[in-house]
Amino acid sequence: MKKLYEDIADQIADQIDQGLYLPGDRIPGVRKLSQQFGVSISTIVLAQRLLEDDGRIEARPRSGYYVRAQIWPIPELPALSRPLRRPTPVTGQQLVLRLVQTTNEPDFVQLGAAVPHASFLPTRAIQRSLSSMARTYGNELSTYQFPPGNPELRRQIARRMAEAGCQVNADEIIITSGCQEALTLSLQTIAGPGDIIAIESPAFYGLLQAIETLGMKALEIPTDPQTGISLAALSLALEQWPVKACALVPNFSNPLGCTMPDENKQALLTLLGEARIPLIEDDIYGDLGFDTKRPRAVSAFGSGEQVLYCSSFSKSLSPGLRVGWIVPGQYREQIEYRKYVTSLATSTLAQYAIADFLKQGSYDRYLRQVRRDYQRQVAIMIRAVGKYFPVGTRVTQPQGGFVIWIELPAKVDSLKLCQQALIGRISIAPGPIFSATQKYRHFIRLNCAQPWNDTLEQAMITLGRMVHALNTAS
Ligand SMILES: Cc1ncc(COP(=O)(O)O)c(C=O)c1O
Repeated sequence: MKKLYEDIADQIADQIDQGLYLPGDRIPGVRKLSQQFGVSISTIVLAQRLLEDDGRIEARPRSGYYVRAQIWPIPELPALSRPLRRPTPVTGQQLVLRLVQTTNEPDFVQLGAAVPHASFLPTRAIQRSLSSMARTYGNELSTYQFPPGNPELRRQIARRMAEAGCQVNADEIIITSGCQEALTLSLQTIAGPGDIIAIESPAFYGLLQAIETLGMKALEIPTDPQTGISLAALSLALEQWPVKACALVPNFSNPLGCTMPDENKQALLTLLGEARIPLIEDDIYGDLGFDTKRPRAVSAFGSGEQVLYCSSFSKSLSPGLRVGWIVPGQYREQIEYRKYVTSLATSTLAQYAIADFLKQGSYDRYLRQVRRDYQRQVAIMIRAVGKYFPVGTRVTQPQGGFVIWIELPAKVDSLKLCQQALIGRISIAPGPIFSATQKYRHFIRLNCAQPWNDTLEQAMITLGRMVHALNTAS
């Protein structure tokens, strides 16, 4: 049986693993801990010695105990991607539907789709807005709210876009049913079947699916896991191929989590402007940076005329309400009409509810909290990968959002891993669905917006074991 001090040491170690104390943080002193755990000071002293022996904490003269930096090795970053350098049709997306379907199955550990666990979302506040709007607007809610959409919502969005450096007025915004619809409308408006779309590599699978269903071709461009798309490679590609549009996630991209530095954003606009190629900018994660300063949108660096800015509240407020928007620059009329013929309108109640929530002014307070939560979750998951996955595994270090991209040892087939994990009721996103040509066979993406608890830790241990087994199988 465990001694009391061992049990206390385990509990402090758990707090460290859960990110309550980060490497370099001072843990509370003996008196405070003895009060906190309701045990004697000598028990705490023994527990601290044990943690020190285990290498979890270190004593600093006259200052107390501190969490040791890098208790587990922080894995290295993956290298710059090297996709196939020619346009190709998109294949291999069928698996994704199965993956997203698991998000509706409560007994799955949801590490696959990039959907935040409900506990991170302001669900109560949104429910209050829904009921209040339903009471206030009764009959009006049964009618269509035709494009461009709810005027109050568009006003609120225009205000928020100033945070991203974009001077936009409400008339320039069209409400859509999520960001996915905004992306699809943009592609349909700018390009046609057979046309080439330049994208990051790896890229968000929803974008790949839109390119696939519209019969277009994807030209995957090498992308750095910290600074985003390689402008040198893009420039070369534009000289070589008749690219019709460029579609990117410049802030906290999915799956790499990278953000383009400001100078790259400016240079990108110049490059595309000279080549007269429009940019489809997906800024869905822009509000979710770990830094207090929100990164600027690419469209903030120019007039916005050549940019179709797309976003939604799916990652920050509610994926289920399906409210997104687009600022289509010079394509406003075409997009407005296309939105109307595609889906008539976005849910009236959902638009009213989000407008009401934003009007109340608590969005910024909520964002401050959730950014910290996601930063912590991402840090814990990266540490868990360092702890449970084989040496040599590489992981991105996103500065925002809530997904991590993991390069497994080259021998590990992520599609096999995904199948095995699904049997174990764990969903993960295998690398090939992030590429038009099913590259990234030994990569996976994990959703970190899940509360860290025993079930999740067990899932990471299980995944680590599966990866080890696939890596050593002959
Ligand atoms: C980069 C990116 N764009 C767009 C979407 C789709 O957003 P929505 O649910 O608002 O349609 C997602 C969702 O995963 C995403 O990660």
